[in-house]
Amino acid sequence: MAGSGGAPLPAPKSILFAPLRLRGVVTRNRTVVSPMCQYSSIDGGPSDWHLVHLGKFALGGAGIVFTEETAVEARGRKTHACAGIYDDRHHPVYRRITDFLRAHGSVPAIQLGHSGRKAASGPPWTLFQPLTELDAQRGLPPWQPVGPSPIPHRAEAQTPRAMDRAEMNAVLAAWREATRRALDCGFDIIEVHGAHGYLIHQFLSPLANHRTDAYGGSLENRMRFPLEIVDSVRALWPDDRPLFFRVSALDGDGGVWDLDDTVALARALHAHGIDVVTCSSGGINGPLNMAIVPRTPGYQVSYAARVRRDAGVLSCAVGLITEPEQAEAVLRAGDADLIALARELLYNPNWPVHAARALGEPDYLDLLPPDYAWWLKRREQVRALS
Ligand SMILES: Cc1cc2nc3c(=O)[nH]c(=O)nc-3n(C[C@H](O)[C@H](O)[C@H](O)COP(=O)(O)O)c2cc1C
Repeated sequence: MAGSGGAPLPAPKSILFAPLRLRGVVTRNRTVVSPMCQYSSIDGGPSDWHLVHLGKFALGGAGIVFTEETAVEARGRKTHACAGIYDDRHHPVYRRITDFLRAHGSVPAIQLGHSGRKAASGPPWTLFQPLTELDAQRGLPPWQPVGPSPIPHRAEAQTPRAMDRAEMNAVLAAWREATRRALDCGFDIIEVHGAHGYLIHQFLSPLANHRTDAYGGSLENRMRFPLEIVDSVRALWPDDRPLFFRVSALDGDGGVWDLDDTVALARALHAHGIDVVTCSSGGINGPLNMAIVPRTPGYQVSYAARVRRDAGVLSCAVGLITEPEQAEAVLRAGDADLIALARELLYNPNWPVHAARALGEPDYLDLLPPDYAWWLKRREQVRALS
């Protein structure tokens, strides 16, 4: 294990700070920066905002730093300000970001996705209102979303165009192209976004997928296109680099997708070369009046535990994990292999350092860049003497 300055660290006392090998990639600890959309991209391209936003998590000691959901093609963005990786112009900034993350000890990782029928919306502060002609007058025109079936995800949303085989092939080609670009840009991990009601989840869910061909109906049929996407990515992604997949393990209260479906999916994903399944929930809307999974601390950990135990694949837990002891307990119980955090890292990007200290790691300051660590160690020495 190495600190961000490359100095070797002593053996960790906790599991959270034990390195983890994933194929040929070693992460210095088991903390993961969960993907977080920034709605700050221009024509899909990242900017200095992304460098600073993601870079500060590397400076704060994170093991793996994920970009936000990054669309494999322009129409697969949710909003005009969502990130994408479909243009050569995007490469230099992504390369700058991955170089920076790696130089400071984190594994650079990208979440790739396609919004499908959830495309052409406003940002979260408009509650993702579907774009209209009024937005078009402000230079933000709506575009035609696609999906497995012509079923809008909410009453006011556009009806998606049901994808035919040619369109599905075009989307597979976009996934391949994005994988090649992610490799060129220096990422070491890809997470395929199969959750939160986006295109892959739309194919999986009987609420969004009413197809009568080989891609609809039975669970096996509904998994077919998602697995074709995974195959497309795995075929181009080097063998020594890990692949993650994010699932919505449950729809919510009154939903139709349950944990048995998730376990079946996770088994299939593992057989198709997925190394880690990240367990989230929700996001697929439909005619059912579903309540979201109650947001209590660690509310999705039991899903990660079930996937790990019954599908025999590594899992990543996420969702209101905020305390170092809580994260360590999840790992000690064997409920997950990695701990992802989102909002707590917005509050404290140095959370890994804070957690390492709380868990008794003697050299927790070595997670910081040497330029910071030197001063803080000196302060500790002075304190110890006084
Ligand atoms: C600002 C923000 C943006 C998010 N964007 C994404 C995203 O791009 N992809 C994704 O899979 N999840 C996204 N999420 C969900 C988080 O990754 C995470 O699963 C969720 O916030 C629960 O973890 P937390 O309680 O640690 O925040 C986002 C969450 C936040 C707060």
